[in-house]
Amino acid sequence: MARLIVNADQGRHTISRHLYGHFAEHLGRCIYEGLWVGEDSPIPNTRGLRNDVLAALQRLGMPNLRWPGGCFADTYHWRDGIGPRSERPTIVNVHWGGTTENNHFGTHEFLDLCELLSPEGSRCEPYICGNVGSGTVQEMSQWLEYITMPGQSPMAALRRRHGREEAWPLTYWAVGNENWGCGGNMRPAFYADVYRQFQTFCRNFSGKRLYKVACGHTDEWNEVLMREAGRFMDGLSIHYYTVPGPWHKKGSATRFSEEEWYTTLRKALAVDEFLARTQAIMDRFDPGRRVGMVLDEWGTWYDVEPGTNPGFLYQQNTLRDALVAAVSFHVFHTYAQRLHLANIAQTINVLQAMVLTDGPRMLCTPTYHVFEMFRAHQEATALPVFLDTLACGPAAQCVPQVSASASRDAAGRLHLSLCNLDLEKEAEIDGEVRGVALKAVSGRVLTDAKMNAHNTFKQPEALRPTAFDGATLGPAGKLTVKLPAKSVVMLELA
Ligand code: AHR
Repeated sequence: MARLIVNADQGRHTISRHLYGHFAEHLGRCIYEGLWVGEDSPIPNTRGLRNDVLAALQRLGMPNLRWPGGCFADTYHWRDGIGPRSERPTIVNVHWGGTTENNHFGTHEFLDLCELLSPEGSRCEPYICGNVGSGTVQEMSQWLEYITMPGQSPMAALRRRHGREEAWPLTYWAVGNENWGCGGNMRPAFYADVYRQFQTFCRNFSGKRLYKVACGHTDEWNEVLMREAGRFMDGLSIHYYTVPGPWHKKGSATRFSEEEWYTTLRKALAVDEFLARTQAIMDRFDPGRRVGMVLDEWGTWYDVEPGTNPGFLYQQNTLRDALVAAVSFHVFHTYAQRLHLANIAQTINVLQAMVLTDGPRMLCTPTYHVFEMFRAHQEATALPVFLDTLACGPAAQCVPQVSASASRDAAGRLHLSLCNLDLEKEAEIDGEVRGVALKAVSGRVLTDAKMNAHNTFKQPEALRPTAFDGATLGPAGKLTVKLPAKSVVMLELA
């Protein structure tokens, strides 16, 4: 039995919708095939972007999309990706499989994608990562001018020659990616100076202030960067991947043991320690919490599917990934004051994807369903939750059996998401919702008898949320929930 108390009339911080952000890199089949098929493709598309994937992603209310990388970003020269497609140069993707790319997906196509992913009332903000490692200050500055300059200027004129009259709205801009590694193998003091220089020329051409993100890394790196350049940044980028095994043998996405189930969840939950350490460093140099923590890559990273290109990072996605996503969001919500943005890696066909494609076929993964179920937490007030739960799993990989998070939306509705991490046992929750009178509870659950349940192109809906009837309301805010083993539940209380 777990004891749960939700203080529904409290809560001070908003869960930024940007914690539910996405990431699409020029890597494997994420951009080409996953999103972009070209206007002449037999796959139904809108201006070259495949309709089935667009429709699936629109249902998530994507708050932002990071592009073009990742490691790819510090090799990308934006001028290669503008102008008539037939005249764009072919490039070699040196980081990811050494494949050649025709550059048919560039700045205009990406910003068109973001507009298509912005259905009424839910804007998908572009989040662009500029090239520091192999680019120049001028190149970065001109890219921003090209996108955002509303008036007359050489880059605005070039944009207009390529068919776009209006400047695009743009807020989020990163100055390099992993510049401690693939983005230039820099040392922290050097990057801090490079960051200061590049960001000086990232001008607010539109008159609206850019949100400039600097590349963070380890505690030592972040300390130097915050000290030397904290006042020049709006966000500090950090990355956290959940890798069950050692790097050379990460483990399979679908064929894993019970012990690996718990190891994976234990490692996913350890993002809490990483965020706490990073926050503590940031607090020393920015006690007012002006600079946001930007977790712009997170998710599971397994061995690639057998027979696939090792440079394409293609992996299946199971109920285990759904649990990883859900418990990660629960952790993220507790940092609502400092954590401003997060991007799961990556949207399609790469790492912990939302969508997998196989030529004209596509499926939504269990992770996709968690993003969809948790949509109600976006821009809601994070509520304080007290949870006393048993533990589960083998001694060395032990994790809390239950994980929970609650929020109150603008209309006053409460949402309570719950996970049972135990592979075998149901979790009974003795709950109490304080500070509000409740009349009704409804919910949905994502669960299966098999821990590696997943969707395939033959059975794309094998695992999807279903109605949940295991929650009952009693007098005085009493809430009883019976959570099935290995499940994610989202409740709405009104
Ligand atoms: O997401 C895959 C890669 O992981 C990214 O390109 C890089 O930033 C990180 O190391």
